[in-house]
Amino acid sequence: FSLKNHNSFGIDVRADRFISVKNVDDLRAILRKTYASELFILGGGSNMLLTGDIHRTVIHLGIKGKEIISETEDEVMVRAAAGENWHEFVLWALDQNFGGIENLSLIPGNVGTAPIQNIGAYGVELKDTFVSCHAMNIQTLEQREFSLEDCEFDYRNSVFKNQLKDQYIITSVNFRLTKRNHSLHTEYGSIRSELERNGITSPSIRDISDAVISIRQSKLPDPKRIGNSGSFFKNPIIGTEQFDKLKEEFPGIPSYHVSDDEIKVPAGWLIDKAGFKGYREGDAGVHQNQALVLVNYGEATGSEILALSQKIQEEIKEKFGVQLEPEVNII
Ligand code: EPU
Repeated sequence: FSLKNHNSFGIDVRADRFISVKNVDDLRAILRKTYASELFILGGGSNMLLTGDIHRTVIHLGIKGKEIISETEDEVMVRAAAGENWHEFVLWALDQNFGGIENLSLIPGNVGTAPIQNIGAYGVELKDTFVSCHAMNIQTLEQREFSLEDCEFDYRNSVFKNQLKDQYIITSVNFRLTKRNHSLHTEYGSIRSELERNGITSPSIRDISDAVISIRQSKLPDPKRIGNSGSFFKNPIIGTEQFDKLKEEFPGIPSYHVSDDEIKVPAGWLIDKAGFKGYREGDAGVHQNQALVLVNYGEATGSEILALSQKIQEEIKEKFGVQLEPEVNII
């Protein structure tokens, strides 16, 4: 079974078996018949680089459903199933004027995988509206509810990438969204200028979503046309001392405050500065509008993209003394 249409990088690798599950009972039934070590769980396939065939049973989470669990005059709790496409979920919320996730418009992938890396963009992270998620233990087949605290969310990180890696399958996520008095996040420079450009002074959540969509479309390649996984690397967090030294040599270096002794610098800027923007080796390349995004122009293999990413890591280490860490899961 080819996985080409099931990973946003569009890498043509094969799986021994592929099963799409439509509900929690089917998932449990399949898990009962399969050893944990023979499993490979696939959500939206938007945050992984496949570097070889998968000699395991791929379980595609196709569990659908969105519902309102409870509401007050101001807020609503909604539940979305793991197999819902993330952006369609955002649009569904916007249609009902439910606020809180508009800045996360157009992020590829599914609802069920969004908590694993605490997806984030333009000043908002999934954790800001997350209430809890339900997940199934791969060994015991028991369902457990994880609270916000249980998930240990951090920048592009959660308990599901660490202590509980490969132990649970998220089946649904609960969010708390606003029905009125939405708290808008327009502090991100490019959102502000996009709204200004359109003459919008008091934006609605829909306006913010539209602004995010147009910024993303101008910078990020559409995975349906050019294979990619969004940001390939995390933005590195470095000590202030190291940052001050870099700033002397490269006065234009952008930065975000993390804590009193830590600063986050954009990996895209470093890669761009190192001359890689638009760079290409065969069908593996660095996107011409955003150097943080590696792309597959058609027939690149996962290993070719991995090799390019390693070359970038080495150059960045040499030029800036900064170690870049992949944001995508390399498989
Ligand atoms: N920059 C360059 N050259 C480039 C790319 C960026 O100089 O080729 C500079 C920009 O000019 C800007 C800074 O780097 O000063 C930051 O760039 P940008 O605003 O595009 O955001 P980013 O830090 O590169 C992060 C997220 C994105 C998210 C945006 C917006 C990570 C790893 N990436 O990118 O997330 O959409 O901020 O919030 O944190 C993703 O995770 O897949 C993703 C796309």
